[in-house]
Amino acid sequence: MNILFMGPPGAGKGTQAERIVEEFGIPHISTGDAFRLAMKEGTALGIKAKEYVDQGLLVPDEITNGIVKERLEQSDCKNGFLLDGFPRTLQQAEALDVMLAELGRSIDHVVNLKVDRSLLLARLTGRRISKTTGTTYHVIFNPPKVEGICDKDGGELYQRSDDTEEKVGTRLDEYSSKTAPLLDYYSAKGLLREVDGEKDIDVVTSDIISNLRGSL
Ligand code: AP5
Ligand code: ZN
Repeated sequence: MNILFMGPPGAGKGTQAERIVEEFGIPHISTGDAFRLAMKEGTALGIKAKEYVDQGLLVPDEITNGIVKERLEQSDCKNGFLLDGFPRTLQQAEALDVMLAELGRSIDHVVNLKVDRSLLLARLTGRRISKTTGTTYHVIFNPPKVEGICDKDGGELYQRSDDTEEKVGTRLDEYSSKTAPLLDYYSAKGLLREVDGEKDIDVVTSDIISNLRGSL
């Protein structure tokens, strides 16, 4: 199954993607994770991406499209994939259609996690991530064992550098102006599956699974 996850920053794309890829046995492709890894390793891609990510701005399409194309060509994507955070512009969506057509594949479902803007700031500023496992927590909504010190496996936690109030504002504006219009693009193709992302994490997971399995 070839799935896209859409939704504003903090909608729960990463949290749900971790669970959905387990359920369907497909790879999780997050452009945000790819940029953060490249930034940590200090590669040429990372140095370029940092200029944008650190300001809460979208990385230019030609850079982003290139890394997705390379990833989709790998053999583990043959039997399906979950793209989290890509595409985010109309140009990226059109480029994705071309990439998939060249590979003889197409998108099966576009899941849009709907969460009101008023809830997103609290979700993002309270997010904490395990340094050892990469698992995402929230200090209130999905607490790690010992706040700020240990995750459930005893590892240290960190906060993303773009999770400050100011950068979240820029990211939400980027989403509204450049990414939200894509919902019409996929709706017109009959691919859009709307899911209420404001419910409890476990409920959202089962709603997505029912939706993908076509029982809703
Ligand atoms: P990216 O990493 O994709 O960030 P984002 O889209 O801003 O989304 P987030 O990862 O912040 O949120 P999420 O929806 O995954 O939420 P999560 O599950 O963590 O991109 C980062 C940057 O990279 C971009 O700003 C851009 O610069 C660049 N980039 C990436 N892709 C790009 C592209 N295609 N083009 C150009 N540039 C690109 O959950 C958030 C918090 O809420 C957590 O603490 C979680 O525990 C909690 N939570 C989750 N679900 C619930 C729930 N149901 N109830 C209560 N709390 C919940
Ligand atoms: Zn994410």
